[in-house]
Amino acid sequence: MRSNEAGVPLLFQGQVRAGDGAALAGAIVEIWHADDEGFYSQFAPSLPEWNLRGTVVADDQGNYSIRTAQPAPYQAPADGSCGRLIRAAGWHARRPAHLHLKVSADGHHLVTTQLYFKGGSHVADDIASAVKPELILDPTPVSDSTGREVTYDFVLDKA
Ligand SMILES: [Fe+2]
Repeated sequence: MRSNEAGVPLLFQGQVRAGDGAALAGAIVEIWHADDEGFYSQFAPSLPEWNLRGTVVADDQGNYSIRTAQPAPYQAPADGSCGRLIRAAGWHARRPAHLHLKVSADGHHLVTTQLYFKGGSHVADDIASAVKPELILDPTPVSDSTGREVTYDFVLDKA
């Protein structure tokens, strides 16, 4: 992230485990998300190419920890055939704030998902209809800080 990245600081952490509960040491957590204005690097030309995109390797206990800034909701692109469909149907084009994630480990199936924020705008009416209860984060304030933190564990099936 930029040194002056706007937005509420977010500590996103947890453990990656196998289905039998064993920690997956060295699991790979790839994360990317929009900034505090709802813009993605590599799409918004004003942002550094890899802003708010990264790969983290879990430790020997499968634990990962990522310090970032909470993303904002955004409007999906309204051009092209997707935009024509949205306009014809009379829908809005808003997506709730979310984190994109890919979690992987040797010998296990990759998980690709998105995680949302409890109480956020458009959690209940995501244009992509992608929100599910088990994908909603509920970060809590960090004491002595303006930021928030949340723990979320991933369980990967054996390949
Ligand atoms: Fe997104």
